Amino acid sequence: MQILTTIGDFRAVRAKIRSTGSLGLVPTMGYLHDGHLELVRRARVTNGIVAVSIFVNTTQFGPDEDLLSYPRDVERDQALLEKAGCDLLFYPAVEEMYPPGGGDVYVLPGKLATVLEGASRPGHFRGVATVMAKLFNIVQPETAYLGQKDGQQLAVIRRMVQDLDFPVEIIAVPTVREPDGLAMSSRNTYLSPEERSGATVLYRALMRAQELHSEGEKDAEVLRAAVFNILASEPLAAADYVSIADPETLEELDLVDPDAMVSLAVCIGRTRLIDNVLLG
Ligand code: PAJ
Repeated sequence: MQILTTIGDFRAVRAKIRSTGSLGLVPTMGYLHDGHLELVRRARVTNGIVAVSIFVNTTQFGPDEDLLSYPRDVERDQALLEKAGCDLLFYPAVEEMYPPGGGDVYVLPGKLATVLEGASRPGHFRGVATVMAKLFNIVQPETAYLGQKDGQQLAVIRRMVQDLDFPVEIIAVPTVREPDGLAMSSRNTYLSPEERSGATVLYRALMRAQELHSEGEKDAEVLRAAVFNILASEPLAAADYVSIADPETLEELDLVDPDAMVSLAVCIGRTRLIDNVLLG
């Protein structure tokens, strides 16, 4: 695996390997877990070259968020990526991606970014869309692999690719979970043992929606209430939102017909976790 830390070096390597087959990109913020590695494995199956980026993107964190405490361990990440068959690791410094004097032009997603995570984290998706546009321009992948775990992020990036004509195919990869259902996340490391067991309430609540839906319940309000009820049963959990929305437009639904994304954000102690499942 080759490690590249500057845009110039990455572009030089990219130019040389144009004929090696398609390049699949897995963008990450590092502190890798099996969810990230599943994206790498998927990319490995259909691409001649697999590139992973590790960049804790400063612009997608709000002023009161966990930018400074975000977990980092690039040596461990490197070893995991070697094993998973990554060819190129792009690992730029903040000044490389956002040099002083820059940042006047950015990508501003519209309606999709104002709801759910966007409502709780103003500016978050502007940061995500801008860094993804930069990564697409630097890495020039034919395909990019994103997790269904961040369902709204997936919708925002898909729309950006469509609206701004990026020549990239976006592939969504199903959420990888711990044996008890908790979605893998770099932020799970913030949880105390007690919070870690309380955090299973997210999956239990989502499974309740799935169960009711499979029994024929289509009324979104009934499903929302059922999800809220399960969340309320966990004393360590404080629900931020429960949404039953169209997976592409993210508009809240009255009826699940034919499909929907049930998504939620829940604070477990001081850690904010998100998760979702698709119905239909
Ligand atoms: P990060 O949280 O590191 O996630 C990188 C990718 O891994 C995202 O596409 C995310 O959806 C996916 N992922 C995370 N947990 C997963 C799980 N349990 N199962 C499957 N996929 C999972 O998301 C970001 O970084 C950033 O916002 C980024 C897109 C890199 C832009 O900065």
